[in-house]
Amino acid sequence: MILIKDGRVVDPASGIDEALDVVIDNGTIKTLGKFPKSDEYERIIDAKGKIVAPGLVDIHVHFRDPGLTYKEDIVTGAAAAAAGGFTTVVCMANTKPVVDSVETLSELLGRMKQLPIHVLSAAAVTKGFQGKEITDMRSLRAAGAAGFTDDGIPITDSGVLFAAMQLAKELDVPISLHEEDPALIASPGINQGAISRQLGVGGAPALAEESLVARDCMLALRSGAKVDIQHISSGVSVDVVRSMKKLGASVYAEVTPQHFSLTEQAALERGALAKVNPPLRTEADRYALIRGLKDGTIDFIATDHAPHSREEKAQPLNKAPSGMIGLETALALGITNLVRKGHLTLLQLLEKMTINPARFYGLDCGTLQAGAAADLVIFDERETWVVEEDKFRSKSCNSPFLGMELYGTVHYTICGGRVVFEA
Ligand code: DOR
Repeated sequence: MILIKDGRVVDPASGIDEALDVVIDNGTIKTLGKFPKSDEYERIIDAKGKIVAPGLVDIHVHFRDPGLTYKEDIVTGAAAAAAGGFTTVVCMANTKPVVDSVETLSELLGRMKQLPIHVLSAAAVTKGFQGKEITDMRSLRAAGAAGFTDDGIPITDSGVLFAAMQLAKELDVPISLHEEDPALIASPGINQGAISRQLGVGGAPALAEESLVARDCMLALRSGAKVDIQHISSGVSVDVVRSMKKLGASVYAEVTPQHFSLTEQAALERGALAKVNPPLRTEADRYALIRGLKDGTIDFIATDHAPHSREEKAQPLNKAPSGMIGLETALALGITNLVRKGHLTLLQLLEKMTINPARFYGLDCGTLQAGAAADLVIFDERETWVVEEDKFRSKSCNSPFLGMELYGTVHYTICGGRVVFEA
């Protein structure tokens, strides 16, 4: 048995936010309360002054495995996740080959089972991410696909997407969507406007996202599918999701820490490190995202952890790939930019990083109630640290937050009752 002593337990699923000890036995939470130290425990963790919360759940990561493992692999990805306080993550399917067959998925899931944290995989909606022919979603689901997505590539054909949503509804599985209409994008990764003009690139307008968000909310309403609007970036998109939720569509939205923390300005200071699809937008958009988090329009915080090599990111802005790593900075960015600024309580922040994503995927995690899996994170919300390139567990270091001082350090991550990260 492990005793976690004197921490502040914050568990959004049960609404608990109080000083309690936690007893872990045999991989599960045995009980919460006040317990004296004794030698019946194999380990006693002193959590005084720290937060004890459910292990974080990230439904949007890229571990680049198979095929692109010079950027990341499932072992380094899982290590980065554990260091960031995550105990469950869902990998996207834009690997090489893409995860569009039962063979590729099964091989991957077999290796993922060996990892110290829970690493799940989504499968592709369309074969080869071509946007034309739907994969054998039924067999992929039966083989263990957590959900379906062509993330990285928007699905432009409404007929294909509607048919996929109908199948997703029948299979009762989430479908996650990258919302940017390529027909409206001059060049990806930088918001179209004053900054893109200054940088001499065409840019990607908010309209490219908004138009697909509006279409896909309608498709979700009519199909009844459970849809995740991924990495939402525009304020108008948030308004669309808000009103479509009211209409009864099963639409959910995720926001990334980069989108609630930064604006298009970052591209001037950080260059290609701030290039991401969809792009960082304006301060008005950033505030609309925060409003969406506050009023529950935005359900999840997800990282879109997208590792790229140093050489790839060192290319000129128009050539460098879009994306940034995020697992090791997500919690600290939430604490620094949402909780400390008074936008969300810690309970609200953690709700969007634990129980909401867990419920959306039907996962048996995200809470600290007795009997639940012993997946936890212990962190200090007041301690500061500086984001440094050589400290990342990830294989890549493409973060726009390098050099910034953030609040919130992870001290322990525990998964299935085992300490998988210790600072
Ligand atoms: O910027 C991005 N990079 N956005 C995505 O949706 C995909 C990701 C990647 O895979 O690199």
